[in-house]
Amino acid sequence: MDKLLVALDVETGTRAIELATSLRGLAGGVKVGSRLFTLEGPPLVRRLVETGVRVFLDLKFHDIPNTVAQAVDAAVQTGAWMINVHASGGVAMMQAAATAGAATAQRLGAAPPLLIGVTVLTSMDEPTLRASGVERTLLDHVVALARMAKQAGLDGVVASPQETAAIRAACGLDFAIVTPGIRGAAAGAAKDDQVRTMGPGEAVRAGASYIVVGRPIIAAPDPRAAAAAIVAELADATT
Ligand code: C5P
Repeated sequence: MDKLLVALDVETGTRAIELATSLRGLAGGVKVGSRLFTLEGPPLVRRLVETGVRVFLDLKFHDIPNTVAQAVDAAVQTGAWMINVHASGGVAMMQAAATAGAATAQRLGAAPPLLIGVTVLTSMDEPTLRASGVERTLLDHVVALARMAKQAGLDGVVASPQETAAIRAACGLDFAIVTPGIRGAAAGAAKDDQVRTMGPGEAVRAGASYIVVGRPIIAAPDPRAAAAAIVAELADATT
């Protein structure tokens, strides 16, 4: 199932490759985040890419535009299929990311990466957001960041499933929405540290282009069975 991206939040490259191999045919891609990347670096991303796996390099770049452009250039060189930056870095930063992504892909003769803006982390709720100085509602803030990402030429955003419908309405059908915070139904009941959650099928019905699932799959006694249950739920939701 193309829509299921599995977060490889594990400790070693060996475990990441094992999981990616065992999920072949079920996961539409894998997500390599900051821990695994910091431990294993670009060689792991290249190994995954070489085995035909689509890699979402989830490093959430957030810096001045020139630095983010250079980081995106480096990320494209790993062969990553999807790359993200924080939308709160601003339109100029996102534009620099989009320009760098396209330019590096062209130089390498590769397909351009999907560049995705992170809106508000799914572990945050409205009081936490307000404490950080944002006065508008969480939903208004997420939609405003998504509009900025679109205006900057990004391909989509990461957002909680609860904001998907409003983002779809604001940004249109050809804008990718990537949703972590998937819990409930086939993804199990434990919320871990996620606050704004939804089940896999519900998330896709609400308009998610991709769902990112970590612990409900990678911490399951049988990750392949857990992924298969989610894929079955997604198939039901899309028919
Ligand atoms: O284990 P779980 O399903 O909660 O994993 C979700 C993954 O998505 C984690 O790797 C987390 O870092 C990532 N993520 C998130 N919220 C965002 C962006 C990424 O949970 N807004």
